Amino acid sequence: AVPLDELISGLTVDVPDFPTPGVLFRDLTPVFADGPAFRRVVEGLAAPVREDPRAAVTHTDDGAAGDPGFDVVVGVEARGFLLAAAVALHAGVGVVPVRKAGKLPRERVAADYALEYGTASIEMHTDSLHAGQRVLLVDDVLATGGTLAAAVALVEELGAVVTAVCVVVELSALGGRERLVPHEVRALWTT
Ligand code: PRP
Ligand code: HPA
Repeated sequence: AVPLDELISGLTVDVPDFPTPGVLFRDLTPVFADGPAFRRVVEGLAAPVREDPRAAVTHTDDGAAGDPGFDVVVGVEARGFLLAAAVALHAGVGVVPVRKAGKLPRERVAADYALEYGTASIEMHTDSLHAGQRVLLVDDVLATGGTLAAAVALVEELGAVVTAVCVVVELSALGGRERLVPHEVRALWTT
């Protein structure tokens, strides 16, 4: 089989100067539209997380039978939603949304952040996670890391634990991984 990073890079379309001049936009929609590729991406993101941040040990096996190492998947609007629901279904856990400001109806927490192109605010329902819950945080692209750093802050504000941050593509020149330290970042393709 083709290595997963080659499969993803081969289907990704690079779009210069979108949405603003100087940005090389990596369009992943053809990856998601390809059934076998989408399945492999979802399986890659859903792979068990063996490091338990609460125990400060690295498990040498899969832990409890069938335990993926996370209790819930949190996905970031909008493109992260395409992935998070599929990852949650694959792992047999629930899915919780991080939404752009103004979309959630009930009591919520909010975080502002700067994008590669612009600024924004994201929110979660206050009761959407509970203390100690192990979270797999999923999005499509790690660029500057501003979005995922804000999402990590919201998850932690609710008392939950980020076990890993998973993305399809990491744009390494933009330094997102450093911004997310000490959290483990799992990228299926790093470029
Ligand atoms: C994109 C992408 C990530 C984020 C990455 O989302 O889906 O969430 O930007 O950039 P960063 O690492 O520099 O924060 P965008 O805000 O464009 O929203 P969308 O998913 O609604 O298109
Ligand atoms: N491509 C896709 N999504 C993004 C990018 C990019 O280059 N930067 C921030 N989000």
